[in-house]
Amino acid sequence: MGARITGWASAVPPTVVTNADLEARLDTNDAWITERTGIRARHVGGVTSALTVESGRRAMAMAGVDPASVDLLVLSTTTPDQVVPATSSSVHHELGLSGAAFDLNAACAGFVYALVVADSLLGSGFRRALVIGSDALSAITDQQDRSTAVLFADGAGALVVEGGGPEPLLLAQDLGVDGSAARLIYSDRGGYMVMEGREVYRRAVRIVVESVGRVLEQAKVKLDDIAVFAPHQANLRIIEAVNARLGFPMEKTAVVLDRTGNTSSGSIPLALVAAAEQGRLRDGDLVLLSGFGAGMTWASAIARWGAPPGRPA
Ligand code: ACO
Repeated sequence: MGARITGWASAVPPTVVTNADLEARLDTNDAWITERTGIRARHVGGVTSALTVESGRRAMAMAGVDPASVDLLVLSTTTPDQVVPATSSSVHHELGLSGAAFDLNAACAGFVYALVVADSLLGSGFRRALVIGSDALSAITDQQDRSTAVLFADGAGALVVEGGGPEPLLLAQDLGVDGSAARLIYSDRGGYMVMEGREVYRRAVRIVVESVGRVLEQAKVKLDDIAVFAPHQANLRIIEAVNARLGFPMEKTAVVLDRTGNTSSGSIPLALVAAAEQGRLRDGDLVLLSGFGAGMTWASAIARWGAPPGRPA
């Protein structure tokens, strides 16, 4: 069974916090944040369901699909609006979708997990999927803690994926988790995010390089064949270190973290959508996605980019 991307969109809340804003209220400074992370500004104050609805509605409008014909919503989030029910149920209702909807939590690797799950369900009877990564990390970040407040923020990105057609959506996938590292990044119920940044950094570079190697091998694809690499947007230094080890150019890498911060599930689709909006992706191009996060989870995939019906890029 084939599947194809036919619409995409992203959403961020309107409130922007710059490094200068943080400098004014925390023991930090623009030079530290920029040099250590590459982040210059981030959007905060969002609500996961609202960001999800906004990105989903715009992606469906782009694809030109009737919401009632979308019979699958897979929502990747670590910050659901509430514990029960899943945020995807209210989003499903608000958007007027049909069929099934569920939340999936694999932290910053979650969007790639969601894409893989949606693709496999499209291969077993579902017709049309909305795959959304959406997080409002600002709600679970202690805004007085300089070690996390400079990093975490809010955002969402959505893809419409249509089942059928001759070509597969995914050429390869590699999903995993190492639960022995679960306490490196966590937020207990009702608490704030806690992270051992240096250890996460060290593991992230290794995990992403290994996982990307596996999907390239599986798909029999060379790095030269990749049009755009959309890595998890946690830290520019991690992305640069990964690219240096892989031998992949920064010019073909999608980076939005300078203006979005780390938006967890939102980060990879925000980067992908930005690359598409900049005209860097054409119908049929291969995109490499790779995320890592709390768990510690990881997920990489090689996907074929698409176009809205009747509008090949
Ligand atoms: N401003 C100024 N100084 C700071 C700040 C700040 N905002 N934060 C920490 N510091 C200080 C520390 O206290 C420390 O001081 P010390 O040397 O006196 O003890 C010093 O800066 C260095 O701290 P490190 O933590 O060693 O700095 P590092 O270079 O490792 O950068 C960072 C920290 C940015 C967090 C980095 O380790 C990182 O990006 N790690 C990976 C995070 C990540 O990828 N998370 C993704 C998963 S998140 C998820 O799943 C939701």
